[in-house]
Amino acid sequence: MTLDMTLVVQDADLVANGIRSLRLGRPDGGPLPRYVPGSHLVVECGDGRRNAYSLTGSGTASTEYRISVLHKPDGRGGSSWMHRVPVGDTVRVTAPRSAFAPVATARRHLLIAGGIGVTPLLSHTRAAAEWGRPFTLLYGYRPGAGAHLDELRELCGTRLREFPEQAPFIGALRQELRRQPLGTHVYVCGPGGLIDAVCEMARDAGWPDERVHAERFSADDLDPGVPFTARLARSGRAVGVPTGVSLLDALEKAGIAVPNMCRQGVCGECRVGVRTGRAEHRDLFLSAAERAAGDSVMCCVSRSLDEELELDL
Ligand code: FES
Repeated sequence: MTLDMTLVVQDADLVANGIRSLRLGRPDGGPLPRYVPGSHLVVECGDGRRNAYSLTGSGTASTEYRISVLHKPDGRGGSSWMHRVPVGDTVRVTAPRSAFAPVATARRHLLIAGGIGVTPLLSHTRAAAEWGRPFTLLYGYRPGAGAHLDELRELCGTRLREFPEQAPFIGALRQELRRQPLGTHVYVCGPGGLIDAVCEMARDAGWPDERVHAERFSADDLDPGVPFTARLARSGRAVGVPTGVSLLDALEKAGIAVPNMCRQGVCGECRVGVRTGRAEHRDLFLSAAERAAGDSVMCCVSRSLDEELELDL
């Protein structure tokens, strides 16, 4: 995957405990490409590591991109690098990509955030406020660890509901999901457990899947999935992909080399063509249009919705 731009760290500050917000801009101060709310950048975080970070702006024309990075001391080192990179240094990034855009035809938007998962929803919130779209944001965070609270309070007013404790948060989610008017879309980002809980509550409350949108951070948050078979179109070989084993791991175990780098669904390196079958996309790389085209899959994290997925291998 090519990194499209070199940007300068223009400014950086701590917006909550362990969360560093960075402002990135072109070296010449010129305008940056617009993006749809909920987009992310893939950033090269030293030593070839690449992480995806949500953009927190509304996506309208601007000379700066803002991202917020939670420091994970036991992670792969990318967040530590992002917490160390000094103002004035440059970083290599991709153009913004999105798989978590607001649905233009929605009558109402129910936004749900947990912890650092508020970042793409801050972007949604800014856009909704700018365009006058009806929305409510429910934000759950550990006491003292809420990010961007001042901005959110100012942007949302009474449309923001904060939950520094978990039990009232879960109760409010259940209640909101039961009382939303027809035509509402729900968007959730946060820890895997929160996303799973919201999806389950939404199903119980009768929400159609196409009105529930989730953004996971990385493969760490993914469930182990159900088994399926990868059929290799050029040889006709069948490769079994068991629960808890990624398609990439299964292919490698079968002796099939696929270029890869992050193994987290963010860098775009492991893209494989799909001939038949429906991929279950779990990456942060493909755009919504690329997903809808259904002709490729990021095999490090994505799986199959069908019992068999025929790959262009
Ligand atoms: S290896 Fe990076 S997206 Fe799969």
